[in-house]
Amino acid sequence: MTDVIVTHGVPVPGRPGSASPPNARIASTPSRPATAASFATPYQALGGAAVIEAIIDRFYDLVEHDPSFAELRAMHASDLGPVRRSLARFLTGWCGGPRDWFREDRPGGSCVMSLHRSLAIDPATAGQWIDAMTRAIGGQPDIDESLAALMVERLDMMVRGMINRAVSVDAAAREQAESVA
Ligand code: HEM
Repeated sequence: MTDVIVTHGVPVPGRPGSASPPNARIASTPSRPATAASFATPYQALGGAAVIEAIIDRFYDLVEHDPSFAELRAMHASDLGPVRRSLARFLTGWCGGPRDWFREDRPGGSCVMSLHRSLAIDPATAGQWIDAMTRAIGGQPDIDESLAALMVERLDMMVRGMINRAVSVDAAAREQAESVA
């Protein structure tokens, strides 16, 4: 069966037009130090499943425990276990690794953007998401800086596309209260 590409993945820095092909092989040579461009996919350049899981664990640990992300935390279910797993599986496929999320979790080609349509996402919660993710990616030891920057840039584009409220409900209520006071 042909894969349904439901979102644009992240290319490998220094490899123009690389489209995160599944099952691509490592193209590095042992004689030269590996850079992100030495690998066929961002998934391989990152270091595979273990690094993606570490990024997602760090991301949801921040969301759970850092008060700067309180509004984003409040949008989620009390048990973050299922979404930790789901986001790790999604990012794995998005980075050119195994596409289990697309095949098994969301057979038929669900779009991650559409999954967020029913949520009220304003610039503040979107900002919290990308801030936490930027810290989670940047905090990985030995991550290639250009790959990290490119991942953040592409994720930020997705996050901006998910914003479906101009201002937060709290801010709107505050403004209304101030205008009648
Ligand atoms: C714009 C800011 C975002 C907000 C406020 C947000 C919020 C949420 C919430 C509240 C859930 C449901 C979690 C639960 O039930 O506990 C969720 C699920 C999920 N989000 Fe986001 N999200 C955002 C951006 C993103 C981005 C950019 C991605 C992808 C890179 C993403 C990937 C996912 C995935 C894969 C799930 C699980 C969906 C499933 O398999 O059911 N989210 N998100």
